[in-house]
Amino acid sequence: MTETVHRVVQWATGGIGQVSIRHLVENPHTELVGVLVTNPDKVGKDAGEIAGIANVGLAATDDKDAILALDADCVHFAPLVPDIDMVCRLLRSGKNVVSPLGPFYPTDQFREDVEKIEAACREGGVSFHGSGIHPGYAGDILPLTLARLTGRVDHVRVYELVDFLKNPSPWMERMGFGRDPEDLAANPSRSPEAIGHFAQSMAMIAEGLGKKIDGMRSQQQFAVATKDIEYANGVIPAGTVAGQRYEWTALLDGEPRITFFTVWTVGHENIEPDWEVPDGRYRVEIEGEPSLDLTLDGNATGRNWTAYAGLTAIPAVCAADPGFVSHLDLGVVRPRGLIR
Ligand SMILES: NC(=O)c1ccc[n+]([C@@H]2O[C@H](COP(=O)([O-])OP(=O)(O)OC[C@H]3O[C@@H](n4cnc5c(N)ncnc54)[C@H](OP(=O)(O)O)[C@@H]3O)[C@@H](O)[C@H]2O)c1
Repeated sequence: MTETVHRVVQWATGGIGQVSIRHLVENPHTELVGVLVTNPDKVGKDAGEIAGIANVGLAATDDKDAILALDADCVHFAPLVPDIDMVCRLLRSGKNVVSPLGPFYPTDQFREDVEKIEAACREGGVSFHGSGIHPGYAGDILPLTLARLTGRVDHVRVYELVDFLKNPSPWMERMGFGRDPEDLAANPSRSPEAIGHFAQSMAMIAEGLGKKIDGMRSQQQFAVATKDIEYANGVIPAGTVAGQRYEWTALLDGEPRITFFTVWTVGHENIEPDWEVPDGRYRVEIEGEPSLDLTLDGNATGRNWTAYAGLTAIPAVCAADPGFVSHLDLGVVRPRGLIR
């Protein structure tokens, strides 16, 4: 069977962009046709070198107009900060866009962005899809898929569980680890926007189940180090933040029905309190009749999962009718080139 080979641009080459380059090069159903970088040290370097593989004969560029002028089917748009105007330019130039920065679902907070994207999609005759592990997958398609196996849903709980002792991140200080807990509570490092991002996933679950969210509740707790904790990039001093727990609950018809938990810890040995958490990196629990639970674990990082969640959707996004497409529009996505 002959299958389409999609010509894809990788926009930005951070952690996610590098996974993407390797995949786009290895997958027989994709061709890497452009790489956009912002870091001046990377301009002119071979995309393979940037991604830690053999040279592929394609130099990275910081020339956005050159990327816009390329003949490409899709852009995997993964820079650090959102740029809806740039996304719209890419769409108007006739390229589909898949992005781990979202937007993921047209909630009121993102309505304006989605409307701009819709208009650009119509002009370019292409589609946009917000992808990623969370938001984008663990609290989106997984709960909706599991809901097919139950007769009544009383409460959906989605957990993101990260032990930074096992998976250190360069952003830990910026995330508030090592800070005074009262100071962090008063001046949170987690953007107030975060809940809005995840509320998109919650809205998708609710609307996928034929309901609307009519209220949100949130709470946060911090745990402190009981002694100095050494990790890959430094030390969390005793008495400072070594754990963060966020709980966001969506109300449907006034009842708490969907809760997202984020539990970030630096190990579990020397922190107080040490919250009881289920196993796995992500976990979805449906309390209902019958109840169900699903643990998502593996040897990949969240960045790998985020890259693949977008890249595997490229054939479906390119084939979709023009517009903003969420999982509710894409249905069951059929990845290409994974068996090789
Ligand atoms: N939905 C999800 O589940 C999910 C999960 C993880 C991450 N994300 C999002 O995905 C994006 C990429 O994540 P990542 O882990 O790859 O990040 P990263 O490793 O920090 O890389 C981001 C890249 O963006 C470019 N960049 C740096 N500063 C920039 C700026 N001021 N403006 C525009 N671009 C800039 C750089 O590209 P060059 O080096 O090529 O110049 C950098 O390498 C982030 O926005 C993150 O929030 C989403």
